[in-house]
Amino acid sequence: MADQSTSQPRKKLYIETVGCQMNVLDSELVVARLREQGYELTTEIDQADTILYNTCSVRQHAEDKIYSALGRIKHIKRRRPEVSIGVLGCMAQKDQEQILKRAPHVDVVVGPGQLARVPQLLARAREVGSPQLAVSLDRDAGSRATITASFEGYDADREPAMRPSPFQAFVRVMMGCDKFCTYCIVPSVRGPEQSRPPAAILGEARLLVDQGVKEITLLGQTVNSYKYREPDGRITRLSDLLSRIAALPGIERIKFITSFPNDMTDDLLQAVRDLPLASRYIHVPAQSGCDAVLRRMKRMYTVSFYEDMLARMRETVPGVAVSSDFIVGFCGETEESFERTVRLVERARFKNSFIFKYSPRRGTKADELFPDDVAEEVKKRRNNDLLAVQTAISLQDNREFIGREVTVLVEGRSRSTTRREGWDGVDQLTGRTSCDRIVVFEGQQRLVGRSIQVRVEDASAVTLFGEVPTTDRIEAAV
Ligand code: SAH
Ligand code: SF4
Ligand code: F3S
Repeated sequence: MADQSTSQPRKKLYIETVGCQMNVLDSELVVARLREQGYELTTEIDQADTILYNTCSVRQHAEDKIYSALGRIKHIKRRRPEVSIGVLGCMAQKDQEQILKRAPHVDVVVGPGQLARVPQLLARAREVGSPQLAVSLDRDAGSRATITASFEGYDADREPAMRPSPFQAFVRVMMGCDKFCTYCIVPSVRGPEQSRPPAAILGEARLLVDQGVKEITLLGQTVNSYKYREPDGRITRLSDLLSRIAALPGIERIKFITSFPNDMTDDLLQAVRDLPLASRYIHVPAQSGCDAVLRRMKRMYTVSFYEDMLARMRETVPGVAVSSDFIVGFCGETEESFERTVRLVERARFKNSFIFKYSPRRGTKADELFPDDVAEEVKKRRNNDLLAVQTAISLQDNREFIGREVTVLVEGRSRSTTRREGWDGVDQLTGRTSCDRIVVFEGQQRLVGRSIQVRVEDASAVTLFGEVPTTDRIEAAV
């Protein structure tokens, strides 16, 4: 029989994450800390002793989802008051005490700059029986140094179970953002822009590769603005980081997201061209194809600057895949300005575009200065129309791959397909090409985590469908 006095039952933790890759990484770090305190993960919310939401504030919809999830779990707290509920991340920083007003059953509210304290805050909330709030300073609450210091760096602990897959991991190279695009809440909730010291980044990457990680994605809100100056004046740029990480034995692929158009320097493009392990894929959002809109967004570039940058990217890195984000229905966007965006998408031939309807955020310049004057139906229509244009281009470009062999880093079982009868040990697998295109094909589980050749047989706008040449399939299996 287990000795109850020495082995306490482990506390069960349920965590849900929304928002960008920064949040996925933050959740991994929070879970790692809590595991050290004896927690174990559960996917069953009803069995959890601690329920955490790692939240996003970038659009109203993301916040609404969390408030309704909090509403849905009220009954759990009523039935089992000992359950702890936490709201972490960007919404915690933005709404602070208001979360406790709207959802009084919440026990901890923890901003993205305070996540290292989650275990203590949960313990303290239990001890004193009242909610605990830990957020960083507002962006206008003092000197830059004081505000920066209130957003702690937090990347020491890693938890393999929370990664996209056992061999894919994120590494943060920058925190915060100083661009202050007028529509965007991120600079307020993530704090001042800071580049992490290269030694810390390299150390973390080495540790991950030692643990079997093959693909590292470097993260920053404007990742290509990365610059670190050592006390002796030496400067490390993103291109330097890429070459140093590429030299780690065992690594197979390196990516970086998200880039800012103005900082697309030649040294970075040359690194992507010259390093065989660098993914030939760059996400560099344009946001709009109209200069007047870009000016109101304070993006600090024009459409022609953006297109020159695209030309330079394609000239330097042949075959590079570029993706973008667009906001439709931003304040003052006329039918004509929207048409300009459509024409940019037609000319630019992005691999894909993420398209969002403008969502006013309290605390941003746009919300203060400009009325949200595009009707919801118009935003919806423009969203659909732009998506249709992009989808047609993605399909056309993907079909160019039919008949070609591509190198695929195999990520795992394809979620959309089920096991086929009669294929002993063969699954529908999914992976990505170096230019970030998704490839689905049949193959042995043991191919997962390896780079293999796949012949493309068919294509949709989002997926290439391939086949592993028969000989390789047999060889790869032995
Ligand atoms: N740092 C990244 C993206 C951050 S947010 C960058 O600068 O590109 C991700 C995307 O959400 C943005 O690129 C933008 O397209 C969108 N977005 C940001 N704020 C928004 C808002 N208020 N309404 C709608 N979409 C928004
Ligand atoms: Fe937001 Fe602009 Fe910073 Fe991206 S660069 S996070 S869109 S303020
Ligand atoms: Fe959302 Fe925060 Fe990322 S607002 S997009 S989770 S930085």
